[in-house]
Amino acid sequence: MRKKIVAGNWKCNTTVKEGVELAKSVNELVLTRGAKDVVVVLGTPFTHLISVVDAVDANRVNIASQNCAAVAKGAYTGEVSAAMIKSTGATYVIIGHSERREYYHENSEILNKKLALTLEQGLTPIYCCGEALAIREAGTQNEFVKQQLDETIFLLPTEQLLKLVIAYEPIWAIGTGVTASTQQAQDMLAFIRGLIAAKYNAEVAKEISILYGGSCSPANANDLFSQPDIDGGLIGGASLKSEDFLAIINAY
Ligand code: PGA
Repeated sequence: MRKKIVAGNWKCNTTVKEGVELAKSVNELVLTRGAKDVVVVLGTPFTHLISVVDAVDANRVNIASQNCAAVAKGAYTGEVSAAMIKSTGATYVIIGHSERREYYHENSEILNKKLALTLEQGLTPIYCCGEALAIREAGTQNEFVKQQLDETIFLLPTEQLLKLVIAYEPIWAIGTGVTASTQQAQDMLAFIRGLIAAKYNAEVAKEISILYGGSCSPANANDLFSQPDIDGGLIGGASLKSEDFLAIINAY
């Protein structure tokens, strides 16, 4: 059975002190009032990982980095490797977020290196895909997302693909307050699951958690999560407020 997952993506927000407070608050709410069958993940800045891992109950709250280096180690000033992330106690890595693709020019070749290094460390990649507004307006979003997947995760063998979480995040819905309609999100996630079934098989497709991300909030999460192919969310803005994040966790 695939997992229901609600993952926060704090992006470039919070100092270490603020982040630890936020993590403690989320942890407390999840332990006391959180839906037990939902896997909770917090995607924090690199600087916070060790402290945030310490601040939460590892049985209920998982910690993710938002990126990792495309190299294992060496003379790459400023980079943080998958092995370093693993050594903090974090267990997930967000890979290929549209902000990294757009602002830091991460292409499929780079993402494949990150995927391989992350998997090698036994970390769970949350692999992001999704189209820009112009592509949605042209009606070619399915082809675009298929190509993103064909060039990256669909090159992985079955046993590695099964270790991934996929997050579909239409760029036009990220941080804009414009959520994809429930139908648009469900249609794309069903399309992605269909691609996995065709490329691998139906059993594999059934096992992989696919999340929706983009202006997901306590107001729309219930509707989104009630869809058959939506296994949870990757949450930006609303993950910075513990009560909102809890409301999304409990939206199933
Ligand atoms: P948002 O961000 O929820 O603030 O739209 C989602 C994301 O970028 O992961």
